[in-house]
Formats: sequence, structure tokens, C-alpha cells
Amino acid sequence: MRMIIAPSLLAANFGRLAREVARVDAAGADWLHLDIMDGHFVPNISFGPAVVRTLRPLTKLFFDAHLMCSKPEILLEPFAQAGSNQISIHVELGEAVTPLLWKIKALGKKVGLVVNPPTSISLAQPYLHQIDTLLIMTVNPGFGGQSFIYEALPKIQQAHAWRREQGLGYHISVDGGVDFKTVAECAHAGADAFVSGTALFSRPNLGVAVKKMRKIVESVSLKSFGARAATAAGRG
Ligand code: DX5
Ligand code: ZN
Repeated sequence: MRMIIAPSLLAANFGRLAREVARVDAAGADWLHLDIMDGHFVPNISFGPAVVRTLRPLTKLFFDAHLMCSKPEILLEPFAQAGSNQISIHVELGEAVTPLLWKIKALGKKVGLVVNPPTSISLAQPYLHQIDTLLIMTVNPGFGGQSFIYEALPKIQQAHAWRREQGLGYHISVDGGVDFKTVAECAHAGADAFVSGTALFSRPNLGVAVKKMRKIVESVSLKSFGARAATAAGRG
């Protein structure tokens, strides 16, 4: 599976968003992560579909919209029409999750499901066959620049084990406090998509930062693959 580097626009300079998107594009990133906060599901407000629509013509980057919103049902169509390629909603929304996942699919978009740090990963299990991405939060959502929560690592391992056991193909994405050190831990645990805001945007050369992060995760995942293959051979 190709490793996905997804800079989070939340850490960009909002005073010059168009130039920041061009910077991400030129840096060779795979996805542009768009953090959508409604001031209710999380105690912060970011930006809405109008901003996404404005940025859409500027790049061919895959737009990965992460909805931290209490009522995503009123936002799916606007974000789909604005040009999102993937729309992710939170598993904490309970019984609303199934219809939301269907709606995202019906809108022709990739489907993402997000799990917050205090939430058990088992809540995501019933939806695994329906999703393209399982996003595991490694900070409590709402703000960029927070410290990575190491307790989330076993969830990545579990998501990876389920994917292998069930022969599924969803991405295992991580979001929050992902820097050049924690990214290696996530890759080792089995993640393949890495959302990173502060660590990437704080570098003067985003291209060098993206390349460096990619190199780290590729070498870790190669090693982990080798270790898993050796274990399997030993068992066999
Ligand atoms: C947190 C957001 C994250 C955040 C990551 O609510 O979902 O995407 O932007 O930013 P850093 O990498 O700064 O933790
Ligand atoms: Zn996010």
C-alpha cells in the first residue's frame, strides 16, 4: 500500500490560503487534509464549504475532509459539491453513522470514519467493510499543535490486524501530533496515511519535510513487513 502524506491545512497561514495550497501541491504531498470544525462537536471553528470550493480549482490534490461536526447530515452535500474527494465523519455520532456513511457513498465520495482518543476502536468494527479510511485520532480533536497521545497506538495495531484478517483495503490514517518521531511509531503500528499539520507547515521547506516524512514511514513499514513475514515463516 502506498504511504499517504496528508498535510493538514489547519496549520497553514489562513491569510494566504491559496499560496499555502500551492505549497502543499509543489511539496509532493498525496492528500490535503481539511479540518472542518463546527464550534459544537469541538470547541473551535475552522472553515466551511465556501473555502473548499475556492481552493478546489487551484490543485488536483485529493481533498480529505474531516468533519468534526455534530450534524454532518446538513454538510455532506455542500462539502461534496465543493470538491471533497473523501468525507470522514465521527463514530461518536452513534446511530447516525450508518446513514451518514451511505450518504457519503451515494454522493460518489470516498468514505471515512473517525475514532476519538477516549472512544473504543471496537465501535468502528461494524463499519469496516463500508469504509475507505479509518482515521484514528491521536489527539483530542479541536486544535492543531497538541501532543501525540501514545495510548492510541494499540488501536492502530488492532485496525491493522482486522484489515489483514478480513482481507479489507481501508487506509489506516492517524491525525494529531504526528511529527518526525511519532510518525515512525504510527507506521510501525500499521498506519499508512499520516495527517500532519504543525510539524510540516512549521518547516521553511515543505517539500523537504514531506520527503523526509515519507522516507521515515517507508523505511519503517518495510522493516515491519519484514518482521511480520519472518514471524509468519517462523510460525509456519
Ligand atoms: C485536530 C485536527 C488535526 C490537526 C493536526 O482537531 O483534526 O488534523 O490539524 O494538527 P497537528 O499536526 O498540528 O497536531
Ligand atoms: Zn483532522
